[in-house]
Amino acid sequence: MPVETKIVTIDLDTRGYDIYIGSGLLYRLADFVPVELAGRSVFVVTDENVKSYAQAAKDIMAEAGAQRVEMMVLPPGEKTKSFKQLERICGWLLDHGVHRNSIVMAVGGGVIGDLSGFAASTIMRGVSYVQVPTTLLAQVDSSVGGKTGINMAQGKNLVGAFYQPISVIADIETLKTIPKRELLAGYAEVVKYGLINDLGFFQWLEDNGKDVCALDPEAVSHAIEKSTKAKAEIVESDEKESDRRALLNLGHTFGHALETAAKYDGRLLHGEGVAIGTILAFDLSLRLGHCTQEDMERVEAHFSAVGLPTRVSFIEPALKTDVDSLMEIMKKDKKATGGQMTFVLPAAIGETFITKDVPEGIVRDVLKDAIGKTNVTMEGFNRQGKRKGIKGLWKSAFSSQS
Ligand code: GLY
Repeated sequence: MPVETKIVTIDLDTRGYDIYIGSGLLYRLADFVPVELAGRSVFVVTDENVKSYAQAAKDIMAEAGAQRVEMMVLPPGEKTKSFKQLERICGWLLDHGVHRNSIVMAVGGGVIGDLSGFAASTIMRGVSYVQVPTTLLAQVDSSVGGKTGINMAQGKNLVGAFYQPISVIADIETLKTIPKRELLAGYAEVVKYGLINDLGFFQWLEDNGKDVCALDPEAVSHAIEKSTKAKAEIVESDEKESDRRALLNLGHTFGHALETAAKYDGRLLHGEGVAIGTILAFDLSLRLGHCTQEDMERVEAHFSAVGLPTRVSFIEPALKTDVDSLMEIMKKDKKATGGQMTFVLPAAIGETFITKDVPEGIVRDVLKDAIGKTNVTMEGFNRQGKRKGIKGLWKSAFSSQS
């Protein structure tokens, strides 16, 4: 049964917009684009994996009266969030007569959304863009709040802009075709909202998380609504991350460092990095005396229950890195100032804070133990006692659900 369409508003004065959450919205896309289409060109950017959705978007925009609709299909994966692909998009937009009143429409996951949003923010000094997120991660996080950008060899998202879309259209039907592993990676960002400031939501996820991951329509649309409302509240209070928005980076300082060390080669998805990074943030907080072992274990148990990785040792092939390299990457994090790292730490489940008051030696200890850790939880082993790695984890979590 289709769920009722939900609307979450981001109240940012002239840069405000609505997020639409529901089933089958893709096929009514034009209803959710808040500008007149006549006389405008629409440039749809997508990747190989979801180009059928982008084709549908293209057809609907043309039927709804757009003057011209073009589509560009990029390779999937984090490596696409690069200068090279940004240059390609900008060249394509210019070759096809992009105009100040054109619309860039991102149909895909976080990579397509971040990259297309950044292209939209710079082309002709800024044209409007619409987010049509097709992954859970993009629906609950990256399509909302206007962070756009690309990765550099030095680290994730180091070049970009704050640039808000004019509308976000999250069709939960599109989640049915994404690989289970990717769905779970997005789920880590859902859990993040409970951990940041909403114990009640975390408890709801403990009870209903498997239904969310199994794409029960009511459960998944509720989870997206809660997540986007939580994000809206934070973005409205601190759009450009001068302070509070950094809370949304729980687990990201460690997670981004692991992703960068894995060279974005597909062995660690962003949300998987966030899950592992969140446990490392708890570990750091625990060593500093800010949170309890019990809370850390409870979060780890929930991630494990749905099939998310929680340890660096689950990454396959194993990450070849060391404490110095990870520290170097972490010091380039955008939250770091003058080489001093900033951490988002949990005080408890549903209570987080931002601090610079973290002795480097303790961070190094956390990383040293994380890299060397072999005592993974039993969920990480198969019957022969061999480690299952990330793929084995989510496969067994899903088979136990069926
Ligand atoms: N993904 C974190 C943020 O949008 O601030």
